[in-house]
Amino acid sequence: IAPIERTVAGLRAQTSAWRKAGETIGVVPTMGALHQGHLSLARAARAACDRVIVTIFVNPKQFNNPDDLKNYPRTEHDDAKKLESTGVDLIYVPDPDQIYPDGFATNVSVSGLTDMLCGAHRPGHFDGVATVVAKLFLQTSADQAFFGEKDYQQLQIVRRMADDLNISIDVIGCPTIREEDGLAMSSRNLLISDRARTKAPILPDVMHDVRTALLDGAAMSDVIEDAKTRILNGGYNEIDYFELRSADLQLLNKTEPNARLFAAAWLAGVRLIDNIAV
Ligand code: PAJ
Repeated sequence: IAPIERTVAGLRAQTSAWRKAGETIGVVPTMGALHQGHLSLARAARAACDRVIVTIFVNPKQFNNPDDLKNYPRTEHDDAKKLESTGVDLIYVPDPDQIYPDGFATNVSVSGLTDMLCGAHRPGHFDGVATVVAKLFLQTSADQAFFGEKDYQQLQIVRRMADDLNISIDVIGCPTIREEDGLAMSSRNLLISDRARTKAPILPDVMHDVRTALLDGAAMSDVIEDAKTRILNGGYNEIDYFELRSADLQLLNKTEPNARLFAAAWLAGVRLIDNIAV
């Protein structure tokens, strides 16, 4: 098992030794409850960098719902074991005061990109993400950071933030890893009841069908009502959004190169998100 570091000072002692030896550093920020999606990021970092740090921090500032924060799965010991096979060098599990010391008063807020999709439904969420990720970038002084396309909006916001603040780090997007039935892997999948879990794949199924229709020349306005009805009849309780957007997140009605389909919906009390290239 890789060593676990819990303080900025301990982390910096390690990273400065690596830097002196001329080694490059990759970082994979996570909130733990690791699954194959997270592990694929750790492997991508392993392949690209001399040293790999996985960070685990359930960031209170990005939870807009107190119950969601309370129920978020915390499985540090299992996480460390799962990381063994990926060959990471260090697991950084900061004590909360290493991220938010007493008197902490700074907020990193990316405008524009945060207004739509998940940002419109989770007030303050992306400020919390941008703030913690900026801190993790600066604390680890990594050369490259690995993020999943599963959270495509987050990936774009993190890129913008790093660019805007001159944090010299390459932000690398990695493909979404799915369960055999097509459901995108997520730590939140652990919270879905067995009964509801059998209904979950209707969301990626419908997205796939809409993608096919869009590539055949259909417009979103032609297919959206039927798509939403299928998702709701299939067992989901509510749809937050089901939208076609450009690579830089402008709303589209017809597809174009690099367009993506984005969805968020509630299944038995659990909010699931997904997106696919069209
Ligand atoms: P978390 O949800 O733990 O995700 C950590 C990273 O794993 C993110 O980059 C996410 O996009 C990626 N990931 C999740 N599921 C994936 C899948 N099925 N396939 C590929 N990658 C996947 O995202 C966060 O944590 C937090 O917001 C964080 C960036 C750590 C800031 O707190």
